[in-house]
This record gives sequence, C-alpha cells and structure tokens, in this order.
Amino acid sequence: MSIAFESAMNEPVSLNVQRELEKPEARADLVAVYARLRRLGPVIRSRSLLFGESLVLTRYEDVVSALKDPRLASDRRSITDGGKGPLERWWMPNVIKLLLDSMVMKDPPDHRRLRNLVQKAFTPARVEALSGRVERITEELLDAAARKPVVDLIADLALPLPLTVISEMLGVPGPERMQFRKLLARVVDPGSQNPVGFVLNYPHMVRLNRLLRRLVQLRREQPGDDLMTALVQAEEGGDRLGEDELISMVFLLLFAGHETTVNLIGNGVLALLQHPDQLRLLRDRPELIDGAIEELLRFTNPVGTVSPRFVREDLEIAGVRVPKGSTLTLLLASANLDEAAFAGADGLDITRSPNRHVSFGLGAHYCLGAPLARIEARVAIPALLRRFPGLRLAVPPAAIRWRPGMGLRGLEALPVSLSPGD
Ligand code: HEM
Repeated sequence: MSIAFESAMNEPVSLNVQRELEKPEARADLVAVYARLRRLGPVIRSRSLLFGESLVLTRYEDVVSALKDPRLASDRRSITDGGKGPLERWWMPNVIKLLLDSMVMKDPPDHRRLRNLVQKAFTPARVEALSGRVERITEELLDAAARKPVVDLIADLALPLPLTVISEMLGVPGPERMQFRKLLARVVDPGSQNPVGFVLNYPHMVRLNRLLRRLVQLRREQPGDDLMTALVQAEEGGDRLGEDELISMVFLLLFAGHETTVNLIGNGVLALLQHPDQLRLLRDRPELIDGAIEELLRFTNPVGTVSPRFVREDLEIAGVRVPKGSTLTLLLASANLDEAAFAGADGLDITRSPNRHVSFGLGAHYCLGAPLARIEARVAIPALLRRFPGLRLAVPPAAIRWRPGMGLRGLEALPVSLSPGD
C-alpha cells in the first residue's frame, strides 16, 4: 500500500452502536435511527464490554460485498489460531458458546459438512410439501383466537406457528417446546448480555443445555421419523457430526427456526395495519402476497444483523483501513433501508420490484430456512386477513412494546381486535 493511499484513508466515527440500537425509540422507528447511522459514515467504530471492538458497516453496497467476501470468516478461531474472544473466554455457558459449534459460526470445510447434513430437509420442494400442515396449524390457531375478545397476535399466532412447525420437523415433544421457548427468551434477553445479567441468567443457561441433551438422548432411545433422529444417527456414524456439534445444530435449528419468523409475521401484520393503503391493496389483490412478504422482510427487518465477521487479511472498506484481525458487524437492517439501494426506502410498497433485500443474508451462510419462513408467512398473513376483515389494533400505536436487543427485532405483544370497530 502506498503512503499516499494510506494518508487518504478515513478514520471512522466512534459510537456505541449497540447502545443506540437498543434504545426503545430506536426499536420503534428503525428508519430514523439507521438514517442517522448511515449519515455518520459507512463504517462506525463501536465498542461494547462483552463483545469488544467492532467496525460496523451501515450501507447496502458494503454489507452485500462483505456477506460475499471470502476474506471474512464467521469463525473467530480462523483469525486467532484458536485464541478465544471475550464471550468464549467467559467461564459461564452462554449462547455464543452454544452456537460456536454450529454452521452459522463455521467456515469451510466444516461449514459445508454441517450444512449438508440438514440442507435437504429445507429445500423449496421439501418445504412446499409441508404447506398443508402449516395451513392446518394456522387454522387451528385462528379458531382458538376467534373465541377471545382481544387477541395477542404474537402469543396466539406468530409464535406458536413457527415453533410448532420446526418442533415437528425436529421431533421435539409438546411439553419441551414451551420449555425451550421460555429458557431461550431468558438467555437471549439483552439484559443477560452484561456481566450482572450473565450471572443472573446462569441457571437458565444450565437448564437450556440440559434440555438439549435430554432431547437428543430421547431420540437416541426412541428414534422417530424426524430430523433430530437423522442427526443422532449421523453422530453415531462417527466422522460426520461430533456430540457438541449435534447439540449446537439442534439448538440453532430450533432457535433460528422460530425466533425469526415470529418477527416476520408479527412485524409484518403491524406494518400492514400501520399502512392502511397497502393493507387495502393486499386485500383487494391477494395475488400480490409473494411480493408483499419480500417487502415486509425488507421494511420490518425481523433480523437486524448477522453474527460477526472476522477479517483474515488487511482490507479497505469505503476508504477505511480494516486491519487483519478486526471484527465486523453488518447491519442488514440499515442496508435494507438504504435509499441508495431502494427508491423510497423509508416507505412500505408491497409492489416493489426488484426487491434485493438482505434479510436472509447472502453467500455461503444464506438463510437455510428462507423457504420455510416464506411459506409460514405466506399462509399465516393471508389466512388472518381473509378470516378477519375487521382486524385492527386494540391499543394505541404508542402502547406497542418492542423486545429489546440488536440482532433480532420483534414485538413483545401485538394486541388486536378481530372484529370491526363501531
Ligand atoms: C442463517 C435470517 C428463518 C435457519 C440466516 C442468516 C440470516 C437469517 C440473515 C444469515 C446468518 C449469517 O450470515 O451469519 C432469517 C430470517 C428468517 C429466518 C429473517 C425469518 C423471517 C429461518 C428458519 C430457519 C432458519 C425458519 C429454520 C431452521 C437458519 C440457519 C442459518 C440461517 C440454519 C445458518 C445458515 C448457515 O450458516 O449456513 N438466517 N432466518 N432461518 N438461518 Fe435463517
């Protein structure tokens, strides 16, 4: 690199991005907060106690390039020769430790080996075959909801639908599903991502680990016609899957299989209720549903950021020097709302085409469950609109509460009334 080139490099602005994004007002108004971050620069230097320092990418173009760049690793060990990051050094079990042996934090060749083990179960054709089951679960949930005066769309539809579907695919029995859900909610709560929260949540993390081991043991003793049994058999086969990898795989599939789609359905319905013109258009022209789901993915950002990327060699991103060993945070949500990539990015337009959002990521780690998430939303949202023409919010918009956290973006609850008002 020449001296003239070095001196032309920009120094990024410093800001604790995680703290900014976790403010309640930021959760409610994504458009404003990400516009501000993009104005601060394409790269922001951010530091947090548990996650250390990272360079945060805010613009669509840079996020897309980074997602596809083989010089970036998903496994921190690729850049540290086995050295550990802050959360891995932490003596207590935590979610990062649990995910460390899963495909999402692996690079080739382990990434491919792990992904291949489950890839077939999630192809569009295999998932399409599940659509009848998705429809039946949706109808049952809506029947139960119709009997209530006020419905919480999260607890009554958006959460149980994907949780039931992924649990059935994996072979998780009924009582363990809600147990998993409750423990998960505790351990991914951002309140648990500071040293005090970590300590307080320690018992939940231990229980979650025990539950995962019990589930695997159950399938070892009573094999079924499900994905977990297939994984247990792959593990018993020896060289394809280790014990820790098996536990991490089950955790990742159960976690990613519902914690994300609940947000797509919940945030999606809220966005439609808040954009009555778009809701009317979708009711009048139900054939627009596929494009509508893509736009809801872009606009409501059920997943705001991916797990960190680690820089294997010196790079330059948007005029900023990024040395080998740096950690990058890719803000998918900011990319999706970038005016430079989407005309009228701050508005909801269910007819948008093309719509090259990055809500499912890109490249080697592109979301394995994208076809499943799309089918669940494509069944649930139209069924809700068809059955309840009077659907409306049961609380003022200001009373709607978002779950805290930077990675996933979803609602605590979505109280609605299913019948028309006076
Ligand atoms: C990966 C988003 C639903 C399973 C990802 C990634 C994103 C994402 C952004 C990339 C992670 C990275 O690059 O580090 C979403 C969204 C969903 C959704 C927005 C729903 C609206 C699902 C479902 C499953 C699933 C239903 C079902 C099991 C996975 C898995 C990976 C992944 C296993 C890791 C893939 C890999 O590392 O190769 N998802 N996801 N996701 N997703 Fe999803």
